[in-house]
Amino acid sequence: MSNLIQGKLGKMYHYYPVSVAIATCSYEGKNNMIALAWHTALSFDPPLYGISISPKRFSYNLIEKSRCFALNFIPNDYNEVVAIAGGASGSFCDKFEKYNIPFENAKSINTVILPFSLAVYECELVKKVPAGDHSLFIGQIKNVLIDPRAFKDDEILNLNFKIPSLYMGNDNYLILEKFELKKFSRKKYQEK
Ligand SMILES: Cc1cc2nc3c(=O)[nH]c(=O)nc-3n(C[C@H](O)[C@H](O)[C@H](O)COP(=O)(O)O)c2cc1C
Repeated sequence: MSNLIQGKLGKMYHYYPVSVAIATCSYEGKNNMIALAWHTALSFDPPLYGISISPKRFSYNLIEKSRCFALNFIPNDYNEVVAIAGGASGSFCDKFEKYNIPFENAKSINTVILPFSLAVYECELVKKVPAGDHSLFIGQIKNVLIDPRAFKDDEILNLNFKIPSLYMGNDNYLILEKFELKKFSRKKYQEK
């Protein structure tokens, strides 16, 4: 017997938590940052990453015009910065200046990055795909920066260093006090 009953779509929070990224972007001397829950890796070769942004956002035009953005993956001790990036708008203020957020220059593209990130993908915009009331900005990753303390040798996040910012929707963030990593090998299911 199924436990499922008819649901409603709402804001599509059903699949959360998601790890939060902050995209940083710049155009004509103006830097901005936007909190993003809707982001995903798309391709290994070439390395492509997609971010979904509403045209209502100030960042939308900045990325469209500058044709680049950096994806900053944020640890959960910076959740307040996520709330700033996702609450304030670059249309009304310089979020970096107003809230004293540290930043530095990206290495391969013309924007800034957040130095407290676990990792940063510097992307050049290759395509903008309209997707309903958002657009999917597809970026090719030109450079990867990491905090070496945040990753183990197998490239998996070192959760003993920091936990990523995990968003549940409606301004709720998941704080993990205890965790366990367990492997479920796919090998025995792979047919030759
Ligand atoms: C945790 C979080 C995740 C968000 N995810 C997205 C997203 O994926 N796409 C989007 O367009 N807006 C998203 N938003 C809303 C924007 O971050 C917010 O509107 C922001 O103020 C836009 O800034 P801007 O106008 O300076 O570009 C999110 C907000 C929060 C708090």
